[in-house]
Amino acid sequence: MTGNPYQDDRGNKDASIVNPHGAGSIPLRRDHGDAHPAPGGPFLVGQGMTGGYGKGPDILHDCTVAVERGEIAVIVGPNGAGKSTAMKAVFGMLNLRGGHVRLDGEDITALSPQARVVKGMGFVPQTSNIFTSMTVEENLEMGAFIRTDDFSDTMTQVYDLFPILKEKRRQPAGELSGGQRQQVAVGRALMTRPKVLMLDEPTAGVSPIVMDELFDRIIEVAQTGIPILMVEQNARQALEIADKGYVLVQGRNAYSGTGKDLLADPDVRKSFLGG
Ligand SMILES: Nc1ncnc2c1ncn2[C@@H]1O[C@H](COP(=O)(O)OP(=O)(O)O)[C@@H](O)[C@H]1O
Ligand SMILES: [Mg+2]
Repeated sequence: MTGNPYQDDRGNKDASIVNPHGAGSIPLRRDHGDAHPAPGGPFLVGQGMTGGYGKGPDILHDCTVAVERGEIAVIVGPNGAGKSTAMKAVFGMLNLRGGHVRLDGEDITALSPQARVVKGMGFVPQTSNIFTSMTVEENLEMGAFIRTDDFSDTMTQVYDLFPILKEKRRQPAGELSGGQRQQVAVGRALMTRPKVLMLDEPTAGVSPIVMDELFDRIIEVAQTGIPILMVEQNARQALEIADKGYVLVQGRNAYSGTGKDLLADPDVRKSFLGG
């Protein structure tokens, strides 16, 4: 990593809800060195993806989403646009009829979701992303299922990032608030020490304050060197923290650009950001 692109103009600056410990140096990410540098391409890309569910019609049409090293990429768009479908396609839960998925320069289009986790993908789906009857700590332990080494350090790092989870570690996750459950879901994904993190609507159903707080934690995770590809329904706020943004409409790329560009684009503003 060179420099820190997140230092200045992002996230919320309300000290009362910013994690006092900070997490800038947390090595949550698996060290993968530069043994397989992507040959110029993005770190993770679903390129020209076409496909749907089972034998059903295509939902995605030549859809491309990507995230670069050290960056946050955000996918926005109306309900039913195919945002979750695009995430599932990148994670290997869809049989693509066209296009491919590459991680760190390697074509992983044919791999199962499980194999992609082993390769370094962490995915937090939009729904059913925690085990509600298990405790917070058991959820984190489940997240480490692919690991055979000692993962207690990673758990400590997740608790540093989300101190409330440490407090509630013996409680069933189903008893937590919406924002806390999302922290469990993100923490669970971090337990594999992913090289890239995919989040589908991590702030769904939470208050604006909790949303800001979750965004701050997500920025902190990015600062540890884990690129983040996320879907967000809070389009304006998400684009504010995004290096790259994609607007999907009916399974197609409608607009893409830097977060700043999209926020300034009159058509994007009018159609997707409420003016
Ligand atoms: N499991 C599924 N089986 C069949 N169709 C689905 C499934 N999940 C989503 N769809 C359809 O795919 C389209 C895109 O849905 P989705 O990707 O969930 O949109 P978004 O996340 O942008 O709201 C919708 O028409 C939806 O009905
Ligand atoms: Mg969705």
